[in-house]
Amino acid sequence: MTTETLVAAAPYLMEQNFSAYTDEQHAVWAELVGRVLPELEKYAARAYLDGFQIIGLQKDRLPRLASISARLEPRTGWNSTPVSGFLPAPAFFEMLAARRFPTTTWLRNMESLEYTPEPDIFHDVFGHVPMHANKVFADFLQHYGRVCASIEDQAVLEKLGRLFWYTVEFGLMREGSEIKVYGSGLISSHGECQNVVEGKCAVHDFSLDEVLDTPVKVDEFQKVLFAIESFDQMYEAMHEAEQRVLQNSL
Ligand SMILES: [Fe+2]
Repeated sequence: MTTETLVAAAPYLMEQNFSAYTDEQHAVWAELVGRVLPELEKYAARAYLDGFQIIGLQKDRLPRLASISARLEPRTGWNSTPVSGFLPAPAFFEMLAARRFPTTTWLRNMESLEYTPEPDIFHDVFGHVPMHANKVFADFLQHYGRVCASIEDQAVLEKLGRLFWYTVEFGLMREGSEIKVYGSGLISSHGECQNVVEGKCAVHDFSLDEVLDTPVKVDEFQKVLFAIESFDQMYEAMHEAEQRVLQNSL
């Protein structure tokens, strides 16, 4: 799959100007990683930690997207593709359907380590991309994009957005008797991760019906999240959701 096949996303594609990153920006990356990695080694899902190694993320240097994609593509076909910023929904879904993850290249500064109004390269690469090395997760994400790209009904898209939110962004997983994090919003935020670890957030067993009925909260710590038993569970939930879309019963 090449970028020439993208239509809606084409205006947002760009190059990552890696040599333009300053020493200070590499230091911000190192600080961000250093703040969360010790807790992730305890609380992140095995699949995330494996993916971190597979894609070759470094702790003290910003990632070169082409290098990450070169490691990722042979495994799952995913590519971390640089974009200029936040994408409109049709462009976003088109890229997911093409196994291209829209990846921002800007980085927050030292004064706002914990919060960014829009995703930056730390959220996108450190938070999201390691999971793309997991085959089942990778297939889920492509299928999600393909289904959403075919939908125009905003109410249906909002409901499917909840499935994305409670898995890709804020997903939890059971590993034995423990609850582990794999969602990017938890992985890339010390505060959100601590909120879960300290038990301030209710953890429900994943249920497609409950997820679709739980509105997303974007401006406060999460009060309820959902734990899957395996990535097969979310993969199958996406197929169930697709059936409901086709039957107008979502
Ligand atoms: Fe995200």
